[in-house]
Amino acid sequence: MKVLVTGGAGYIGSHTTLSLLEGGHEVVVLDNLMNSSAESLRRVEQLTGRSVDFRKVDLLDASAVDAVFAEGGFEAVIHFAGLKAVGESVAKPLMYYTNNVAGTLNLLHSMEAAGVRRLVFSSSATVYGASEEVPLVEKAPLDATNPYGRTKEQIEDILADLGEADSRWSIALLRYFNPVGAHESGLIGEDPSGTPNNLLPFVAQVAVGRRDMVRVFGNDYPTPDGTGVRDYIHVMDLAAGHLAALGYIVGRPGVYRWNLGTGRGSSVLEVIEAFGKAAGHPVPYEFAPRRPGDAAVSYADPSAALADLGWSAHRNLAQMCEDHWRWQSRNPQGYAAVTEAAGAVAE
Ligand code: NAD
Ligand code: WQD
Repeated sequence: MKVLVTGGAGYIGSHTTLSLLEGGHEVVVLDNLMNSSAESLRRVEQLTGRSVDFRKVDLLDASAVDAVFAEGGFEAVIHFAGLKAVGESVAKPLMYYTNNVAGTLNLLHSMEAAGVRRLVFSSSATVYGASEEVPLVEKAPLDATNPYGRTKEQIEDILADLGEADSRWSIALLRYFNPVGAHESGLIGEDPSGTPNNLLPFVAQVAVGRRDMVRVFGNDYPTPDGTGVRDYIHVMDLAAGHLAALGYIVGRPGVYRWNLGTGRGSSVLEVIEAFGKAAGHPVPYEFAPRRPGDAAVSYADPSAALADLGWSAHRNLAQMCEDHWRWQSRNPQGYAAVTEAAGAVAE
């Protein structure tokens, strides 16, 4: 299938692009590189031995998006492009609503005009809000608690309305839990700019010596060890979920919602310990106050994805940490060192 991958230079997008190419699909990546580096795609090329067709385009530039579709032949779109930092979304809500919601609207208009009506969308478990009813099932009420989460909820609503209005659309809303890890080669991985917001990249940067210690946000939650529990999922399992969803929606118009998680929760302390084992040395941490807005426990009921897609996550926490560490230890500064050394990025 010829697939357009928006946000394909980013963390989850680059791993999914790799899996698509390995699965024999033809891929065009659209990304404005606002939170990524084209080096990720060069490494995908290295790993697959195939070239990645890249268009440096901003989804907010409607005519540039139209021009990509004018190339013709696209059979589906996997839409990762968006901003994703919760704290930044609270500080800059207009930037988030514009980039994520307006960007998606531009994409949908271009798809409509080109007659491309298959879409796999990166939603998030964040749409469930602070619901403490675990495991989370797809029919749980949505109640995002911050502007970032609300962009995901709003886009889900837009896509549901679109599917309702025009039965030719096939749309998969994939609600990811906590993506972590890296491709087992250690060549591609997560490369956050600035201070990481998420636990795993922070722990990894402490383990590699870029930061002093992890601050554990709260040790008085009603959980076995008092720290927050999340459903961490290996990014390669997540990538496989996208291929499964894509395969499913072909020939099945409608709007589908699937949780992509393992169904298993791990505490912050379990993660820090597992990462220390993978790195071969303990990761220093200290307890700090709770982070506002955090739920005590969140994990998926992934049974719908298993029943419908035949998909489930296979990699455990130890593998997630080992692969994340391989990437981090071989690329302590992420892609930056390479792109600086190489000078201008080919675009
Ligand atoms: P990422 O930042 O690594 O990737 C997003 C990519 O989109 C980046 O390469 C960025 O440059 C690009 N982009 C952003 N705005 C764009 C625009 N206007 N035009 C073109 N390109 C644009 O993030 P990720 O972790 O790979 O996340 C991918 C998607 O999955 C996002 O939509 C995110 O909200 C969603 N998601 C991520 C997580 C997570 O924890 N990583 C969890 C749930 C959902
Ligand atoms: C995990 C656990 C923290 C950092 C976020 C977004 C969500 C989704 C995934 C995109 C929690 C604790 C964290 C640290 C810590 N992203 N923690 N010290 O909050 O479950 O979800 O990322 O859609 O929308 O909200 O993930 O990795 O930030 O936190 O103790 O330095 O680690 O309190 O219990 P979260 P996270």
